[in-house]
Amino acid sequence: MGEIDTERQKLNCFRMRELGATVVPVKSGSRTLKDAVNEALRDWVTNIRTTHYIIGSAVGPHPFPDIVRDLQSVIGNEARAQMLNQTSGEFGHPTFTNGPGRLPDLVVACVGGGSNAIGMFNAFLEDKEVRIIGVEAGGEHGPWLPDGSDTDKHSATLTKGTVGVLHGSRTYLLQSPDGQIKETHSISAGLDYPGVGPQHASLKACGRVEYVFATDQQALDAMRTVSRKEGIVPALEPSHALHQTMEFAKSLPKDKIVLVNLCGRGDKDMLHVAKARGVVIDTDVKLNKTDFAQQ
Ligand SMILES: Cc1ncc(COP(=O)(O)O)c(C=O)c1O
Repeated sequence: MGEIDTERQKLNCFRMRELGATVVPVKSGSRTLKDAVNEALRDWVTNIRTTHYIIGSAVGPHPFPDIVRDLQSVIGNEARAQMLNQTSGEFGHPTFTNGPGRLPDLVVACVGGGSNAIGMFNAFLEDKEVRIIGVEAGGEHGPWLPDGSDTDKHSATLTKGTVGVLHGSRTYLLQSPDGQIKETHSISAGLDYPGVGPQHASLKACGRVEYVFATDQQALDAMRTVSRKEGIVPALEPSHALHQTMEFAKSLPKDKIVLVNLCGRGDKDMLHVAKARGVVIDTDVKLNKTDFAQQ
């Protein structure tokens, strides 16, 4: 895991260690997801007889994007079955019979490397009447400043990227004209990646899926709104999708159905969100001898 992400995702790291994993902070490059993938691929090709490479996003060389899409498709297939109250067939849900009985009009998901989004979108690609939207990280201001000039403080790969090769696949990348990968920015560790899974590159190129972005502040605001209105604390990543969902919903008639992929809980982000809001949380809990005696 990139060293910066071990800090941004401190609680996740602690949880992984409690489960028995060894988390190695990657200190090269921008110390985020791109560099963690570099190091994992390097380690794998060096120790190929004794290790196996696994990746949680739909990026990397074939067949990894396909494997990740197929595993994540459980969510899209079930969401579609629930929408249709479909209880039989390959993707039928065994008990759910309380959905609207029709397909959604709009499906929205956030896109970092693209795994949660492709898992959701895949089920609806053949349903031409369903509009599908992927939401990337617009970072501090989006890819352009208010005066129209460019900024690099974002991770909006499909909005602003150009075609190139990274981590074994040809896709859209945030890169300099001579092909050097640019440093990206997002408040959410999961969206802070200069590439995107090749399936999304293809879906953008053929026009089946539209890709937009939400900024750090818009994601923070959406996270708070959904926490307060729904009692669900979403992760920062899907909060980007939630912002755009609320924006699209403003112009939709009330009988339209929007399906949004809430792909993660915000617990892991709480320390980072507190920092972004200027709140200091003292996590330095000191146990004294009597606390130990009681255990
Ligand atoms: C909760 C959550 N959502 C979304 C993402 C983005 O990844 P992907 O685009 O592969 O779903 C991440 C990545 O770490 C994540 O932790």
